[in-house]
Amino acid sequence: MSDVQASAIRGQLFYLIDDPFLNGYEDCVRYESDGLIVIEDGKITAVGETRNIASQLPEGAIITHYPNSIIMPGFIDAHIHYPQVEIIGSYGTQLLEWLNKYTFPTEAKFKDEQHAYTIAEFFIDELKRNGTTSASIFCTSARESVDAIFQSAQQDDMLILAGKMMMDSHAPTSVLDTAQSSYDDSKALIEKWHDRGRALYTVSPRFALTSSPQQLEMAQALMQEFDEVRLQTHISENKDEIARAMELYPDRKNYTDIYDSYGLLEERAIYGHAIHMSENELRRFHETDAKIAHCPTSNFFIGSGLFDMEAMKQENRPVTVGLGTDVGGGTSFSMLQTMNEMYKMAQMRGISVTATQGFYLATLGSATALGIEDRVGTFKVGHDADIVVLDPRATPLLNLRANVADTLEELLFVMMICADDRAIEATYIAGKEVYERSYVT
Ligand code: GUN
Ligand code: ZN
Repeated sequence: MSDVQASAIRGQLFYLIDDPFLNGYEDCVRYESDGLIVIEDGKITAVGETRNIASQLPEGAIITHYPNSIIMPGFIDAHIHYPQVEIIGSYGTQLLEWLNKYTFPTEAKFKDEQHAYTIAEFFIDELKRNGTTSASIFCTSARESVDAIFQSAQQDDMLILAGKMMMDSHAPTSVLDTAQSSYDDSKALIEKWHDRGRALYTVSPRFALTSSPQQLEMAQALMQEFDEVRLQTHISENKDEIARAMELYPDRKNYTDIYDSYGLLEERAIYGHAIHMSENELRRFHETDAKIAHCPTSNFFIGSGLFDMEAMKQENRPVTVGLGTDVGGGTSFSMLQTMNEMYKMAQMRGISVTATQGFYLATLGSATALGIEDRVGTFKVGHDADIVVLDPRATPLLNLRANVADTLEELLFVMMICADDRAIEATYIAGKEVYERSYVT
């Protein structure tokens, strides 16, 4: 007899298998009104219509049935800063002043190991409460901050990508490293954490404004030395930021060219924001298959600008986009609320993103942008069983609205606009329930 633990989750299944911005609905969406996901040893071993696959259930498997819920792959946050939770909702500034006034002082606190663990544990709990099962996470320049987040995520076997912030110039000394120490520390942390359990390391130069040319060379060296690690940074979020980047790197054609000249524009790299981009820059993103993390709640809150989703999804040169909260520039951990603001931002630019496209971005889209789509982001045999259970009637208003929703797309759209953490009924990571809503609606 096998000692592998088997279980199953039953209910309405909704998931994506391809990008609905670029392909037809039928080619992208999978829906089962009464579906079953069979899980063994943290992985999906069967998925489909209950009546077809119930026979594949291992003997003794426990089935958890959610007859009134919608079951999806766990949400994936493509860009978030865990050390910034204490400054979420800080008043009145735009990017560069916001960094100096709020961000750098709060990040300086993470040399204190105890503080780092306290915030890291709060942060992982908050992800689970919001149905987010993976995230690409910026730490601070302190090594302790990286240990704290990987250790906290490991308690739930959560697949996270995280890395030490590399920043050696133009910020207070309390948060600065040096080009050499950032290389040494990042390398030691890669060797300690990358591929340990489900942990993945992501090399994290903050942005061109706080990295010297020598430090960007170090980031390049790390990417060349370690085939499997990812890279995350920021680009073209704010007009003053862009002007300053061009002052610091006057020989470069544009902001993208700064990173490109250090070989950092490549398929393992994801760039936060990318709001004010030229056609040439987007073409380079397409050619190199570098990815973009769209962070709408942050872009509204810090007043950065309106992301151009349509420009990303041009059929002749698509750019891969994931969705991020960017807490604490972003104002919510909820990927549902992030989809809501993504929709509104696209409306301001004259396009109406569908619910299917929104849920794609929050699941398989972000997975693809982070290079983890072969493990999570959809329901497929062999993938990790990271799952969110959504209650479409979580509040009186959602309930009233659900009563008159005629189609699944309409119901999902209402959830994307009006739902939040209250709609997260349960969250599963590697097949284990790690969060269950404690109240009944
Ligand atoms: N650009 C460089 N660092 C940051 C950060 O911490 N947050 C945001 N929103 N943009 C940045
Ligand atoms: Zn960011």
